[in-house]
Amino acid sequence: MTHIRKAILPVAGLGTRFLPATKAVPKEMLTVVDRPVVQHVVDEARAAGIEHIVFVTGRNKGVIEDHFDRQYELEATLSERGKHQLLDTLRAETLGPGKTSFTRQQLPLGLGHAVWCARDIIGNEPFALLLPDMLHKPRNGKSCLAQMVDAYDKAGGGNHIAVYEVPMDQTDQYGIVGLGENIAERVHRIAKMVEKPKKEVAPSNLAISGRYILQPEIFDLLETQERGAGGEIQLTDSMLKLAKKQDFYSVTFDGSIYDCGSKLGFLMANVAYALARPDIAETFRPELDALLASND
Ligand code: UTP
Repeated sequence: MTHIRKAILPVAGLGTRFLPATKAVPKEMLTVVDRPVVQHVVDEARAAGIEHIVFVTGRNKGVIEDHFDRQYELEATLSERGKHQLLDTLRAETLGPGKTSFTRQQLPLGLGHAVWCARDIIGNEPFALLLPDMLHKPRNGKSCLAQMVDAYDKAGGGNHIAVYEVPMDQTDQYGIVGLGENIAERVHRIAKMVEKPKKEVAPSNLAISGRYILQPEIFDLLETQERGAGGEIQLTDSMLKLAKKQDFYSVTFDGSIYDCGSKLGFLMANVAYALARPDIAETFRPELDALLASND
């Protein structure tokens, strides 16, 4: 069984839900506590053993490439000033030479199209796909993608999709899966996959959360894919076709999920991640309590 070495992070979206903040700054570069959202997601991928990250970018996203590069002048200045702890943090988070690829989507034709743009760089091997605006904060320390790699090993391969519970009356906002056979703790075969079903016909309230492990045959299906909902090339349409030939599994994520592409999700992520940082929570928690109590 092939080890999952590469991950795609599609960062070519326009971020219209977060305008005007995202007019000149990519939404992936908005900060949750003290690092960009995309850095949190790269950290998750690396914690799951990913060795190479393929960013599918677009116009005005060059700053993401700069963020993952070394900044010699900054490093020299920090070193001269004896700021070794900061320097270590910067170095630990920088991806090594040859460990990243950047390819342009050119036109925002949808998530399926963004994934297809990475086909030559991924080649003929299974890969991970992480939507960088969805932060997955694990409950037990094991990252979402690491939980999925465990499931992939237990299932002996296949395609895997992370899911989480959403309120039943919101199923029409998500891709929803129906569960089949239980094969390990929190891992099931997927019996059904439906895009944005109304609650009356939804097979469950388990929504696709933005983490996938996919087999390379998905690229052949995306290649011929016509425009789907919203005039975009939809990943779900190709996954439904692939599910007729290959096994698909759901991994119910053990943790909390924040959609940082929305204002509410972004604000909640900042509070949750700050409260989880011992160095910040000590002073942040009393300030937050005082603010809530003051009703200002
Ligand atoms: P979203 O629909 O959340 O991203 O796509 P968006 O289009 O940037 O957001 P809004 O709705 O306008 O605010 C999910 C992920 O897929 C990427 C986005 O960057 C995001 O990470 N994406 C989406 C692409 O890379 N290309 C696309 O054509 C569409």
